[in-house]
Amino acid sequence: MMDRTDRHFRALFRQISRHAMLYTPMISAAAIVAGRADAMLAFDPSESPLALQLGGSEPVTLAHAARIAADRGFAEINLNCGCPSPAAARVQWGAALMDQPARVADAVAAMVASSPGVDVTVKHRLGIAGRDDFDRLLGFVDAVVSAGAVRVIVHARAAVLGCLGPAANRRIPPLRPEMVAGLLKARPQLVVVDNGGIDDLEAVRARWRNVGARGGVMVGRAAYDDPYRWITIDREAWCDDEPRPTRAQLARDLFDRAARHVAAGGRAHAVTRHALGLWRSLPDARHARALVASLARGASLDDAAAAIRVLEATASDGPQAALLGGSAENHA
Ligand SMILES: Cc1cc2nc3c(=O)[nH]c(=O)nc-3n(C[C@H](O)[C@H](O)[C@H](O)COP(=O)(O)O)c2cc1C
Repeated sequence: MMDRTDRHFRALFRQISRHAMLYTPMISAAAIVAGRADAMLAFDPSESPLALQLGGSEPVTLAHAARIAADRGFAEINLNCGCPSPAAARVQWGAALMDQPARVADAVAAMVASSPGVDVTVKHRLGIAGRDDFDRLLGFVDAVVSAGAVRVIVHARAAVLGCLGPAANRRIPPLRPEMVAGLLKARPQLVVVDNGGIDDLEAVRARWRNVGARGGVMVGRAAYDDPYRWITIDREAWCDDEPRPTRAQLARDLFDRAARHVAAGGRAHAVTRHALGLWRSLPDARHARALVASLARGASLDDAAAAIRVLEATASDGPQAALLGGSAENHA
C-alpha cells in the first residue's frame, strides 16, 4: 500500500507473522528501469517472503523491471491492475488496464520470460464500473493466466474511474465476493486470492473458504491500521505456535530501528509513524498514543521510552479472543 507498506512497516509486520506474504507498495516499472532500483527496491532479507508490485503498462518496460527485481530476491512480482487514481488512469496504469486484457497478457508473458523462477501475479478489480460483468472478468482472468500468471489477487469490487478518488474507490461500489467465488467455480484449477473488507479472523475464515484451500486472502487497511489484531494469524493459518512478541516488544524494536535510521541520516518520523497502529484498540492508551503522535511530529526519540512504559502498563498482550475454528481447510 502506497505510503504504508515501506520496509519499516514490513519489518514490524514480519514479527507478527513469519509466514504471510508481504507486498511493497506499487512501484513504477519505468522508474526502476531508469536507474532508481537501488533506492526503490532495497529490502532486508528478513522481510521475506516479499512480493514486489509493479505499476506500468508497457510490456517491454515491465519485463525489464521484472528482470532487475528478479535478481534481488523477491518471491513474487505482481502487476497492479487495480489502482483507480486519476493519475494512473491518465497513463493507462492500474484499473484502466482491465479494459485491455490483451496488453496485460503481453505484459505478463514478457515478465514471466524475463524473471524465471519468480512467481508473476496480477492484482485487479472485478472490472471497471459499467463493464464489470462476470464474463468480462473471466475473460480477463483467462487471458492473464494463459500468459503465465500463477495466481490472481482480486479486490472484490469494481473501480469507478473518472469521478471517484482512490479513498472512495475502496468503499464504493459494494464488495461482491460472490464474483470471486464464481471464478473458482468456473475455473477449478485457478489460484485466487480474495481481497477487500477482510477485517478480522472471522472474515479471513469466511473469505478463504470462498476461494478454497489453494487460494488465500489479502488484508490491506486492517493490517496497517491495527497490526496487533493479527498476532495469532500464524497459529490460525499456518499451525505455527512459535511465541509472538508483545506490543511493547514490537514498539521497542521499532523505536530502536528509528534510532538507527536517525544515526544513518534519516528522519525518525519515517519509522515512528508506523507505531501508531500498535496502540489502536487499546482503550486506556490515550497518553501513549499522544506520545507516539508527538514522535511522529518530530519530538525527541527519548519520548519513546515513556510511550513504551505507558504501553506496558496498559496493554494486555494475551492471546486475542477471536480465533479461527481450527479447520484444516485454511492451512494452505
Ligand atoms: C493508503 C492505501 C494505499 C494503497 N496502495 C495500494 C497499492 O500501492 N497497490 C495496491 O494494489 N493496492 C493498494 N491499496 C489497496 C489495498 O491493497 C486493498 O486492495 C484495498 O484497500 C482493499 O482491501 P482492504 O479492505 O483490506 O483494505 C491501497 C490502499 C490504501 C488504503
